[in-house]
Amino acid sequence: MLSGPALSAGKVGSAFVFIAAVSFVLLVIIVGTMILFVVRYRRSKHPEPSPTKENLALEIGWTAVPVLLVMLMFYFGFVDFEYIRNPPKNAMVVDVVGRQWSWLFKYANGKQEDVLRVPVGKPVNLIMTSQDVIHSFFVPAFRIKEDCVPGMKTHLWFQATETGSYQVFCTEYCGQGHSHMRSQVVVMPQADFEKWYSAAEETGTEAQGFNLLKSKGCLGCHTTDGTRKVGPTYKGLFGKTETVTTEGRKRTVTVDAAFIKDYVRNPNVDRIPGYPPIMPKIQVTDQELDKMIAYLKTLK
Ligand code: CUA
Repeated sequence: MLSGPALSAGKVGSAFVFIAAVSFVLLVIIVGTMILFVVRYRRSKHPEPSPTKENLALEIGWTAVPVLLVMLMFYFGFVDFEYIRNPPKNAMVVDVVGRQWSWLFKYANGKQEDVLRVPVGKPVNLIMTSQDVIHSFFVPAFRIKEDCVPGMKTHLWFQATETGSYQVFCTEYCGQGHSHMRSQVVVMPQADFEKWYSAAEETGTEAQGFNLLKSKGCLGCHTTDGTRKVGPTYKGLFGKTETVTTEGRKRTVTVDAAFIKDYVRNPNVDRIPGYPPIMPKIQVTDQELDKMIAYLKTLK
């Protein structure tokens, strides 16, 4: 049996190796026989084809052996599928929300994060949905994947066996920012996880602003360090003068609190040069926006 950073990885890996090994052996036998026959029964040596008769033993053999092999593949696949679809009762539940273009993870105590933090050795049950279009939650290292569909809940579970960070991808094309829709599963030792889980959120306005940018998914498309993603960076954004196109007419604006609020409430009415008009409408209160703007002001 193979192993991996999660129990599911070992199971899927073992089934894969079995199927790949059978396929490889068959490949060698079939292609080897073809080559042998091409050489041995070539026209120059056998100008007249000789009649062949049925061979019962051979026919039963080439029927029974493949049936047995595919039934074995079915067996391994089915047993692993059962395992992957049925979370244990004691699993820790985390709500997952996919949205254009970021992931949000919500815990039972109200904590929210843009990376998935879990304790090592504990089964985790993800209850997943989407706020907009279909996304697909994929952790290659764990060999698990499931769609996140608006208006319904899907689930996925895993039990990590090694601490570390594992990449999360979105594997359903969900719009322009699809390739930026990445996150991580951070598998922590139990004690570290508990410390993080029970730690109080920072309370300063700017810290709250930053946490809101994370939990509302803004950082899926905007960075705070000057790097360009799907949307413009937040660094140096506040107070900047920008030429935008509004209903076909160019105008010069100052990116102040009023402009930002207006843009968030009515995204893409003003077109920003060099960026596609794909900002989604975000559910956010005025107080939340004020905190987010307070944080933006600190990014000189
Ligand atoms: Cu979300 Cu692709």
